[in-house]
Amino acid sequence: MKAVVYDRYGSPDVLRVADVPVPSPGPDQVLVKVSATSVNLSDWECLLGSPMYGRIGGLRRPARRVLGSDIAGVVEAVGSGVTRLSPGDEVYGDNLDLKGGFAEYALAPESALVHKPESLTFAEASTLPQAGAIALQGTAAAGPGRRVLINGAGGGSGAFAIQLAKQAGAHVTGVDNGGKLEFMRSLGADEVIDYTQQDYTRGDPYDLVLDLVAYRSVFAYRRALTRGGSYYCVGGTSRSLLRVATVGFIVGALTGRRLRVLVVKLGPAAFEPFAERCVAGDVQIHIDRTFTLEETAPALAHVGEGRALGKVVVQP
Ligand SMILES: NC(=O)c1ccc[n+]([C@@H]2O[C@H](COP(=O)([O-])OP(=O)(O)OC[C@H]3O[C@@H](n4cnc5c(N)ncnc54)[C@H](OP(=O)(O)O)[C@@H]3O)[C@@H](O)[C@H]2O)c1
Repeated sequence: MKAVVYDRYGSPDVLRVADVPVPSPGPDQVLVKVSATSVNLSDWECLLGSPMYGRIGGLRRPARRVLGSDIAGVVEAVGSGVTRLSPGDEVYGDNLDLKGGFAEYALAPESALVHKPESLTFAEASTLPQAGAIALQGTAAAGPGRRVLINGAGGGSGAFAIQLAKQAGAHVTGVDNGGKLEFMRSLGADEVIDYTQQDYTRGDPYDLVLDLVAYRSVFAYRRALTRGGSYYCVGGTSRSLLRVATVGFIVGALTGRRLRVLVVKLGPAAFEPFAERCVAGDVQIHIDRTFTLEETAPALAHVGEGRALGKVVVQP
């Protein structure tokens, strides 16, 4: 089968299309014929090996040769211990542990996969697991009249988070680069900020900040919050995340605010409630572009270099 492999961290140039054997499922594993794999910023981070959490499991060289965790496809074969899924089933899920989605076939633990809703295409389903779980948990504290700010709101998780916060009745501000302002407005953002022009931590404070790309000091984040307000970051520089988890915890406690790294629960229990909102038509799935398997490197660059509006999908 064809797979997009890499053996060292680096720019998209280190990726190459190779012929590799089709893997065989272990007892609790499922072999999926991949129809679509969405690109997450975490794929880009694991390609670069930066921030440092992109090297989890493989400090010097990648632990997995094939990236791609959010897969959708058809079950090809199952291991002896698999009970819920059978060949021919249409499935999707977040295969963060094994990855391997940028290939014609991928192995996943049965526990990572669920049946794909019929009304969603494979490409649509592949966009939901990681970004949907982040958006759902990151906006859980949004509510009527609350001032919510989403930093990095024009990307994969952010585009979902704007819609969820808006539906919860919040006043939503989206922050991203100037090319994404109109897109964020179209998703329902009441206000938009171009981060290259304006520092959101220096304006009126917010009740909830969901930060997908943290890089500022904890004092800036404290300043951005109302008393009683909460700041949650999910991604960003290692330095910022570490500071939020340590100094931020203390600064928040001393000033009546909450500053935390949001450790997102992943897996079917986390993304299926979000998928139901999409099936019901409450949340729109915006796929910016689809790429072929051979175009995986430009697909990753499209997300990593900040050109994607919403989600990007690779389809073998
Ligand atoms: N905490 C957890 O448990 C957990 C679990 C899974 C994933 N994650 C992390 O969550 C993050 C999810 O990101 P995603 O997939 O939504 O990423 P994405 O689709 O790439 O979206 C990120 C957005 O942020 C924008 N951006 C970049 N720098 C910015 C800045 N300084 N200020 C404001 N916006 C900026 C990007 O556009 P430009 O680059 O053009 O500006 C892009 O639109 C990843 O870092 C991932 O590793 C965390």
